Amino acid sequence: MQNGIGHSHAKIILMGEHAVVYHQPAIVLPISSIKLQATIVPNAQQEIQSSFYSGSLASASDSPFAGIALLLRQLLTYFDAKAQGFKLTIESELPPERGMGSSAATAIAVIRAVYAAFGAELSQTTLLNWASVSENVIHGNPSGLDAATTGANSPLWFVKGQLPRPMHMPTNGGLIIADTGVSGQTGVAVAEVAQRIQADADLAALIPAIGNQVRQAAVCLAQDDLNQLGQLMTQTHLQLARLGVSSEKLDQFVQTANQAGALGSKLTGSGLGGCMIALVNDQASGQRVDEALQQIGARQTWQHWFKEDMN
Ligand code: PMV
Repeated sequence: MQNGIGHSHAKIILMGEHAVVYHQPAIVLPISSIKLQATIVPNAQQEIQSSFYSGSLASASDSPFAGIALLLRQLLTYFDAKAQGFKLTIESELPPERGMGSSAATAIAVIRAVYAAFGAELSQTTLLNWASVSENVIHGNPSGLDAATTGANSPLWFVKGQLPRPMHMPTNGGLIIADTGVSGQTGVAVAEVAQRIQADADLAALIPAIGNQVRQAAVCLAQDDLNQLGQLMTQTHLQLARLGVSSEKLDQFVQTANQAGALGSKLTGSGLGGCMIALVNDQASGQRVDEALQQIGARQTWQHWFKEDMN
């Protein structure tokens, strides 16, 4: 083993959360300005240092790091290095449990760091297969969207079980991302939606309806039609609220952003907390929406401009 470094970043779901679990499409964006780095160096012991777990690999099984620990053990076995000592350090700017893909971003960076440490080539398919080891432990029944986006360098059209397709973004406009400061647990939200749509046919019909809004949103993006895209985002938010995954705070953030001049807003990710996104035309309106969200208690805000997606 040599020293190995792996990178990844945050993600947001522009459209399609929850419906994506039922094979509807989703549009997802990497947020490359919010970074995560994993560094692995040879060491006497098998040691991990991160903001959510620090200690030995052996004691990580009962910690929030259990999924990543399992992934790491399987990677070491694969490289015939089960007993080898190392220190793995994870430095992350991603807030955990906010729908920004923190667990998947950790997995992606760890896999890249381990492959780099063993000087091995890593294909996209292999990367995503490995990421599913920890994501299955952490989320139960993940669509795979988080792993695909936290390792990607362009926006993606994502359908569960298919290879994601890069997407073109408008040259203008962007998103204000606001953290409610409340944890949202993906596994819980996904299980609650499953229960509700099984019990109520009207709610079940919202899944293909959200899928159709995602398809319409893709047309808006291709035609630079931000006004229509904004309306679709707010409609999707209302449907996600009917599915029971919004919260008072998320609804308040959406209302405030739209009143402050956003073209539309919605929760992003699994909901029940986490983050919301507001679509804005330009930097001036973005600044107004950003300030309005901070005034009503957003824990943190980020500005993401679509032109950053063009690299
Ligand atoms: O990890 P989050 O909070 O961004 O949510 C993932 C999106 C869901 O559609 C709710 C679940 C999934 O696996 O796609």
